Amino acid sequence: MKRILIVGDIHANYPALKAIQSHVQAYRFDRIINTGDTIVYNTFPNETIQWFRKRKKSVSISGNTDRRILKILKGKKLKKPGKEEKRVMYFWTIENLLPENVNYLQLLPRQADLTIDNVRIGVFHGTLDDKNETLFPDSPENRFRKLAERSPYQIQIMGHSHTPYCKTTNGVCFINPGSAGRMFDGDPRASFAILKISLGKINVEHFRIPYPVEEVIKGLKKNHLPGIYKEMFRTGKKLN
Ligand SMILES: [Fe+2]
Repeated sequence: MKRILIVGDIHANYPALKAIQSHVQAYRFDRIINTGDTIVYNTFPNETIQWFRKRKKSVSISGNTDRRILKILKGKKLKKPGKEEKRVMYFWTIENLLPENVNYLQLLPRQADLTIDNVRIGVFHGTLDDKNETLFPDSPENRFRKLAERSPYQIQIMGHSHTPYCKTTNGVCFINPGSAGRMFDGDPRASFAILKISLGKINVEHFRIPYPVEEVIKGLKKNHLPGIYKEMFRTGKKLN
């Protein structure tokens, strides 16, 4: 049996990532899959990236926030997001990101393709078609069917919507682990999933676990970042 830890949309929330690590430490994982948006919106971008750099079994892809950081570093203007309190988080990240972690970001692919125990898995931040598509469990069934029809993958793992789900359409298993570090659904706990593959059989379990939110608040305060984020992390709601 192969066991795979799936995390994503961590958004530099290292205390949440550490809590996930402690929660699953009794298990051995064959792989760790990260669906992207590893940084921005919290004050631990270096710690978060270094956690993955240390783990050779991890497979990470880039998300829109990661790519935006690289764009700004290239001297391109930041068009989106428009809200000042969001833009501040990007500029703070750029000022504090270590060069070796910028390198890591530059090397991240936009998607990944891996085969585990004869099961082919595609990993995307958005979807197979569009790196910025946001797919929810209640998105039109037709959309899932379309993505399944042309799929060379038995499993498609996605992020971006910050919504945990698992559903099977036309024989393809779609998994979103939810957001480990920036929750939108009113539940402030960290979200992740564990995928098990055994003789072609697929099993997915979703988890929500508490983490020390006050560590995040401390980091935000220390760095004089907008107060709205304290409220967001305490309530698990998207307020901007
Ligand atoms: Fe995200």
